Amino acid sequence: MIHQVSNPIVEVHDLTVSYNRKPVLWGVDLTLPKGALIGVMGPNGAGKSTLIKTIMGLLPNQSGFVKLFGKSLDEVRELVSYVPQRESVDWDFPISVIEVVLMGRYGKLGLFKRPRNSDREIALECLRKVGMEAFQHRQISQLSGGQQQRVFLARALAQKAELYFMDEPFTGVDAATENAVVELLKEMKQQGKTVVVVHHDLQSAKEYFDWIVLLNMRLVASGKTEDVFTAEILHETYGGKLTVLTELAALLRKGEYPSREK
Ligand SMILES: Nc1ncnc2c1ncn2[C@@H]1O[C@H](COP(=O)(O)OP(=O)(O)O)[C@@H](O)[C@H]1O
Ligand SMILES: [Mg+2]
Repeated sequence: MIHQVSNPIVEVHDLTVSYNRKPVLWGVDLTLPKGALIGVMGPNGAGKSTLIKTIMGLLPNQSGFVKLFGKSLDEVRELVSYVPQRESVDWDFPISVIEVVLMGRYGKLGLFKRPRNSDREIALECLRKVGMEAFQHRQISQLSGGQQQRVFLARALAQKAELYFMDEPFTGVDAATENAVVELLKEMKQQGKTVVVVHHDLQSAKEYFDWIVLLNMRLVASGKTEDVFTAEILHETYGGKLTVLTELAALLRKGEYPSREK
């Protein structure tokens, strides 16, 4: 089930990515619709982070190409924002919360320019949106995991981009942060933004996302959530991964699950 959209905001064509010559993503072809909340899912090691990093130009691809807004990343960098996976960030770096969020403005400032008052106002407004305004002078290292994640989202918001990539923003955060992030995603969608989120909970994915991409080294499916969430496709993605199959069985029992057996 690979649904292609006309006029996509993200286009990935025949993408193969390797580490030390060992491919971890094979021949991925997909297009994503503008203005949607999009979940990228698959088991651990499926290549989710690799896909996002390659789209963001942080890893070289062995074959294929990526287009954003129909253009190369370099032409549209200002319009694209990336929130890396929390574990990949050095949280001991001595920097305050407001400074982290101001980093989201650097692309707009140009080299060597100091942030203006208007940039500070935008940074504060973004901190307010994630409920972290009171922490603006705190060192980032002193925050909890959920608070760090919120600050990272504020930094992405401060960039005022059109297309966002977030790598597992819900992993290892408290329920309050999860709710705050969900509200934020809804607001972003209302403003016509496109948000691509790496996520690993099947149950909430059904609620959160309009569109789902399922990966397991290859692209298994990409389409509207209701079309992709079938027993067949999920089995194909997760194979024998026990916990996921248990989750799946629970979903099936609740009858929340469209069955499309041919
Ligand atoms: N820097 C790296 N060097 C070598 N192998 C890597 C590196 N990063 C990821 N991998 C491997 O690539 C595969 C995909 O990783 P990743 O994209 O992080 O998966 P996911 O985000 O879906 O859990 C995994 O097998 C992982 O071990
Ligand atoms: Mg990952």
